[in-house]
Amino acid sequence: MSSNHTTVNHLNNRRILLAVSGGIAAYKIPELVRQLIKSGAEVRVIMTHSACQFVTPLTLQIVSEHPVYADLFELEQAATETPGSQMSHIELARWADLILVAPATANTIAKISQGMADDLLSTTLLASSAPLMVAPAMNSQMWESDATQDNITLLTQRGITIVGPASGELACGEVGAGRLVEPSELLKALNDHFAIGPLSGIKVTITAGPTREPIDPVRYITNRSSGKMGYALATAARRLGADVRLVSGPVSMAQPPGINLIPVETAQEMLSSVMVDPGEIFIACAAVADYHLADVAEEKMKRSDSSLTLKLEPNPDILKSVAQLPSPPFTVGFAAETERLEEYALRKMEQKGIDMIAANLVGDVDSGFDHDHNRLSVYWRKGATQLDLASKSEIAEQLMALVIKQFSKQ
Ligand code: PMT
Repeated sequence: MSSNHTTVNHLNNRRILLAVSGGIAAYKIPELVRQLIKSGAEVRVIMTHSACQFVTPLTLQIVSEHPVYADLFELEQAATETPGSQMSHIELARWADLILVAPATANTIAKISQGMADDLLSTTLLASSAPLMVAPAMNSQMWESDATQDNITLLTQRGITIVGPASGELACGEVGAGRLVEPSELLKALNDHFAIGPLSGIKVTITAGPTREPIDPVRYITNRSSGKMGYALATAARRLGADVRLVSGPVSMAQPPGINLIPVETAQEMLSSVMVDPGEIFIACAAVADYHLADVAEEKMKRSDSSLTLKLEPNPDILKSVAQLPSPPFTVGFAAETERLEEYALRKMEQKGIDMIAANLVGDVDSGFDHDHNRLSVYWRKGATQLDLASKSEIAEQLMALVIKQFSKQ
């Protein structure tokens, strides 16, 4: 975006998966990749076999600085053989902050609208929950056909962004709508996508899941947190445009798309990872173990018939440490209680010196630890509200709305 000094660059560190289908306009894609990389975006490219007739994978590999595949099985083999350096199509689908299909042929648009998955490109698209942008390019008759227009309507109804096509002289000699928009316009559409959202450009760090405090090489102390609440918050914050760091204890949740996931085990590791960048908003949703073993056994402890005493020492309070930073972020804590919710939550807000606290009863049969639903009592310096029982995704969105309101008053 450096060509236009009045435009703010929102592409830095964004992960763009470029899906190229087979049209003459594919010749414009290397230039788009070049501009994206110049804007600080990370770019991966996948292609259809037809696209390779118009621009070579090697060209796109050189400009994107990453291997480019058109064949699903070749990609999967490479991912199996070099797991650290090559992502499988599922990993690519999860990695992307956004997928841009450009050029999108009539055939590819039809396949997306029907949910077909018969090659690398269509399979990856179907496996991804990342926002999708489609830039059509085709002959004007094909573009204006009822079939293509119905498919475009379907994609629009699903919330997919359609960019173009532009009008003008087409490769087939006709004049009309069907040209792929210029790389600079695609770049602008991508930049605008990331500019949207009240948390656009705001760094949000969230902790999630349990911590695991080792006893010996095979045993540990932990708790029942599944990570569902913290991951839902990370997804909600991302959807609002934030740059999200999710510092997560061991859980079996999939990595939410577009989120910087930092896996940790112990409370000490969680503290160190959080302190690398607590962001402008810090939300402590993790159920951090309050204690760790004073001495972790180096070898597996042997069973005996006598009783065993483990000496525990307190873990650092991550939330309090963040709130005590010289320029602290807006801090949001959770309180997991089995009784006297309001009293204990308000006490925690005071003791930790934080801006907001979301309290949940963790003994309930329908909410709290590991449930798909939750209900929260939320308190901040000058107010309080209840979030009634709802899915953790809905609760996360409601809580983020409260956070934004209080954060923007700061
Ligand atoms: O993961 P799920 O299965 O979806 O369940 C969600 C949840 C119940 C874990 C979540 O909603 C929740 O309540 N998280 C906080 C759990 C907890 O540890 O609460 P606490 O009352 O013990 O701690 C108070 C606050 O201090 C929390 O924000 C906690 O993250 C933070 N803390 C606690 C101890 C510590 N050493 N460092 C901390 O930062």
